[in-house]
Amino acid sequence: MTNKLKYFIGNWKMFGDFSSLKIIKRINNFCLKFRKKNKNSKVILCVPNILINFFSSKLNSDVISIGAQNCSHNKNYGPFTGSVSASMLKKSGANYVILGHSENRFEGESNKLIMQKIENALEANLKVIFCIGETQKQKNKCQTFSVIGNQLKKSIKKSFDKNKIIIAYEPVWSIGSGKIPKKNELIKTFKFIKNLYKKLFKTKKYPKVLYGGSVNNKNITLFSKISEIDGFLIGGASQSSKKFIDIIKKYYK
Ligand code: 13P
Repeated sequence: MTNKLKYFIGNWKMFGDFSSLKIIKRINNFCLKFRKKNKNSKVILCVPNILINFFSSKLNSDVISIGAQNCSHNKNYGPFTGSVSASMLKKSGANYVILGHSENRFEGESNKLIMQKIENALEANLKVIFCIGETQKQKNKCQTFSVIGNQLKKSIKKSFDKNKIIIAYEPVWSIGSGKIPKKNELIKTFKFIKNLYKKLFKTKKYPKVLYGGSVNNKNITLFSKISEIDGFLIGGASQSSKKFIDIIKKYYK
């Protein structure tokens, strides 16, 4: 059930400008050195659309991949003011896209709409980081498994290429709050997601499942002991090169 390769994915959210190149350069320099002793980690930074091309062309890195944070449910080009399609993201240098983030679900994204976005992203040859997770209210009502099960069933088609989808379990109540699930809860939830996914989509391998929500350079030690976790989707702490690098270093300590 455990995958050796570990993902460290930064979600910058609404943060950054051209001067932020220095942050990503520091992370890139760290990764170049770190790769010599550790080949089992993959670093991806999901940045605002305006920075994708700038970062990917300036860095031209083979140790950091650049990703986007959302895409339109419409394909290619069209009369959709303010929208950016998956194929446009790919052409600008993104290789990954986060979809189904709770901050976008709050804005009205349904499971069905997210399914369309996943389809478009895969067609555009982007890899998908698909977010699922329960709210505090749903957790209180013991609905965690039914909520995340539903999110998986309703947004992933059997025909999707499962090698190009990474799941990110992000309990909504944990995002930006400093609160994290208990170790035994995490183990149970990760086992649930992996088993359900394999059963639903009849995959040979278990999916890669990341944890997201208040990950920092202190609690990473606790997460590192849970082998079912295949990596992390890191919000606030990924906006600082020092904090992000510290998380990676401490994970392997
Ligand atoms: P924080 O790490 O800031 O809690 O955010 C998590 C998140 O939403 C990543 O997608």
